[in-house]
Amino acid sequence: MAQERTIHAALLGIGTVGGGVYKLTQELGEDILAKTGARLVIDRILVRDRTKKREGVPAALLTDSWEEILRDEKIEIVIEVTGGIEPTLTRLTEALRAGKQVVTANKDLLAEYGAQLFEAAEEGHCDLHFEAAVAGAIPIIRPLRQSLAASQLTEVMGIVNGTTNYILTRMAEDGMGYGEALELATRLGYAESDPTSDVEGYDAGRKLAIMASIAFNSRVTFPQVYTEGITKITAEDIRYAREFGYVIKLIAMTRLARDGVEVKVHPMLLPEQHPLSSVRDSFNAVFVHGKACDDAMFMGRGAGQMPTASAVMGDVIDTMRNILHHSCGKIGCGCYKNLPVKPVEDTSSRFFLRIQVTDKPGALANIAGILGNNDVSIAQVVQKKSRDGVAELVIITDPVRERHFNDAIRILQGMSVLKEVSGIIRVYGS
Ligand code: NAP
Ligand code: HSE
Repeated sequence: MAQERTIHAALLGIGTVGGGVYKLTQELGEDILAKTGARLVIDRILVRDRTKKREGVPAALLTDSWEEILRDEKIEIVIEVTGGIEPTLTRLTEALRAGKQVVTANKDLLAEYGAQLFEAAEEGHCDLHFEAAVAGAIPIIRPLRQSLAASQLTEVMGIVNGTTNYILTRMAEDGMGYGEALELATRLGYAESDPTSDVEGYDAGRKLAIMASIAFNSRVTFPQVYTEGITKITAEDIRYAREFGYVIKLIAMTRLARDGVEVKVHPMLLPEQHPLSSVRDSFNAVFVHGKACDDAMFMGRGAGQMPTASAVMGDVIDTMRNILHHSCGKIGCGCYKNLPVKPVEDTSSRFFLRIQVTDKPGALANIAGILGNNDVSIAQVVQKKSRDGVAELVIITDPVRERHFNDAIRILQGMSVLKEVSGIIRVYGS
């Protein structure tokens, strides 16, 4: 009888996601053998602190020495769930160059150093898989790279951050405060160790850079993505949005325009009947449009221990099959174009504008005049009751070049009639 094949792996990190990955490797032992024809054994687990007690994990597996893993020729797969840029970038580059396959959930790394990692993967003829880096359990990287490769994609739009979607849902549905909702999201394991990257839109921006690069076969890096988070969204914005028939979501959107790629992350008023409006809690969803495929939508759990571990382990199983069939490293970077990324000011949006103005004759006419002179056309306007001589105006514009809208706001801010700009949020639609 032929000897059973064993594939040895090292797990880098055993925090939220790593804990889930380890649990799945223990639960799925026989299944993995049946699915791939080989047993998976986690030989080493890299941590910062070897002395920390970790429930259900044999202490003998823990190490704080990367070199020990790198030197161990038995280890064929490195599963990286530590996070951060360095020393992870150096470690994964070394692993790939040494011919070790890499599976990672690290969007920070992919969104800025994807090109370097793919170069190393090519050098080592290795697989580099990162399904878990975007939208947790939802398969989106593989569909974009493989299933939709002939679809001539023109747009990818989605809710790709579980923490902010959870916060906005709790604020809109339970009237919960921002701080309390963030605390809950953190406790549930959705938030990054520093939640600034969630709430400021950086996490979604990194995921968008990765998706845009694959969808349009042209490298987009995180610093090229315009990002705006949810920290300025108030209960009033949510209430007014509802009055107009909208919900507020943090939207990541990339479009292939004639003069370049648009990549933006920001809160957006979505019509209540839009499919993304019903995506609640930590769920994520990605909408894609292509000339050939038309519309397609992917939805599922975008964050949390087991959903993310599920995506990581899917990649590990794929990698095992590739090892067994000697077909590692077949799908490379894929960025064979060099398209420009458009400055955000040259893109167009509709806007929701909430301002406080002096309640006196001609105030609204003044405001409308400045907007009109700057090419900003008003689609809807509502004036709320005046209090202490100050009236609240809520305006929704038609699509306008962002540069012109910003010019109008700058001029308005210099006018004595304008007391405060209380909210500016983009609105879905063209
Ligand atoms: P986490 O809970 O903070 O766990 C990080 C783990 O990595 C810990 O075990 C830590 O060791 C270890 N570690 C960190 N830096 C290290 C270093 N320099 N050397 C050795 N070990 C190190 O993080 P997480 O939430 O699991 O996230 C891990 C990765 O998955 C990140 O890239 C994150 O963006 C990504 N991700 C997370 C989610 C999610 O829902 N949480 C979803 C998708 C993707 P110690 O235990 O000794 O501190
Ligand atoms: N912090 C991320 C989120 C984890 O909330 O979506 C998943 O990438």
